[in-house]
Amino acid sequence: MAVQPTTIIIFGATGDLARQKLFPALVSLCERGELPEPFSCVAIGRRPFTNLEFTNYIATTNNALFKGEHWEQLAANIRYFQLDFLEIDHYQGLNHFLQEIEQGSVANRLMYLAVPPNSYKGILHNLAESGLRNVAEGAWLRVVLEKPFGHDLVSAQELNREIAECFTEEQLYRVDHYLGKETVQNILAFRFANGIFEPLWNNEHVDHIQITVAENEGIGTRGNYYDQAGAFRDMVQNHLLQLVAFLTMEEPDSFIQADLAKQKQMIFNQLTFDSTRTLFGQYAGYRQEAQINPESTTETFAMTKLELSTARWQGTPIYLRTGKKMAIRISEISVVFKQSDQRLFHNKKDKQPNILTFRIQPDEGIALQLDVKTPGENMLVQSVNMEFCYSMTFKMKLPDAYERVFMDILKGDFTLALHPGPIEQSWQLIDAILAKKESCFFEPYAEGTWGPSKADQLMLEDNRRWLAHESQVCNGVLLAD
Ligand code: BG6
Repeated sequence: MAVQPTTIIIFGATGDLARQKLFPALVSLCERGELPEPFSCVAIGRRPFTNLEFTNYIATTNNALFKGEHWEQLAANIRYFQLDFLEIDHYQGLNHFLQEIEQGSVANRLMYLAVPPNSYKGILHNLAESGLRNVAEGAWLRVVLEKPFGHDLVSAQELNREIAECFTEEQLYRVDHYLGKETVQNILAFRFANGIFEPLWNNEHVDHIQITVAENEGIGTRGNYYDQAGAFRDMVQNHLLQLVAFLTMEEPDSFIQADLAKQKQMIFNQLTFDSTRTLFGQYAGYRQEAQINPESTTETFAMTKLELSTARWQGTPIYLRTGKKMAIRISEISVVFKQSDQRLFHNKKDKQPNILTFRIQPDEGIALQLDVKTPGENMLVQSVNMEFCYSMTFKMKLPDAYERVFMDILKGDFTLALHPGPIEQSWQLIDAILAKKESCFFEPYAEGTWGPSKADQLMLEDNRRWLAHESQVCNGVLLAD
């Protein structure tokens, strides 16, 4: 097979996403020998850097990956190009620059737009108009966009129209990095490879599902973006709703993008929310953060109760909560089964339902809470966890979500890429929730907690509770780096 060079072009190469996620992922891929050969990387930013100044700048990021030989190896292939996103002439310059690097070869190009979403439109049009959307015959071009895809339904539709004017869907890869997490993909494997759960996966057996995505960090340096977005737009519209879809969808015909999109669409079409169980929270001190309006009512915590009207799920609510500056960093999904009557075990002190938990991060794994007999004469039962831990079973560090994203795009595997249809549908739901913001609860919360106390109260009103989350599971065994 002919060797085909590949150029990865990163717009916004000096920004947080590139420094914290994209370059570390490329170093890891380099370490694992997964980068294509020959390979070059063009880093694009507005600042006037030389190649060396740029790689030195990246290396100041607090990440051990920027210390070793693999970083050196990658850095030797990085060329910096200064460009103003709005200047069409600069794109013509970029075109020449790429041709020089590729030396007339039939090179594939991956263009990653790691830029604020309000720059998408200008960049896409300039790429198209400057001729950069054309690659040599026999090569591919893939343009990568990151969420958020719009701010609401109208802007998402407009963005999709702009995209369609400049590129074909086959050239576009819309990333939700949560789908790059092994544990998220494992939801599909778990559900569709283990037939034993299928008969239980419905409203007859499942009391409710709860999803907690908690972060202990605040908004950091992203005040400008975050104050316009808030937790519902930043996390629920994309990551959490993708989890909901994976958990509740019917079995797709295959894992190709169109089949997954079809199933997601069926779910998003039938999702509604309960405004009396919807809560907006804000951590104390948020209004004093950099770039934040001192009177901001942007939520840093979001809770809602979703209802699905599909035959399988009608009557089984899905509770979501996510927030910044919470007690610990943890993402977990719990499928809480209905209680059996436990007639024979009425002496069980602390009656617990069976719970199936997907631990998305950290301590990735799956746990099933079961009742077992305690040793001794009496027929007493106690709840215990049967656990699967990635770290113990596979004895490896799971690849970061962005490694998977790069690998898929390089291979042309669009399984995890988002499709515009379900994106627009998920905005419909978020728009409806945000339109009710004034009539929903809004409560501040202290840093290091599980969010507003109202979140617990709203669950209690449904005779349910948020489950406790431990910071360290897998029998306390953690994988050493
Ligand atoms: C991003 C959000 O999409 O996901 C951030 O914009 C959030 O606010 C991040 O912190 C969480 O992702 P992860 O992979 O670090 O859990």
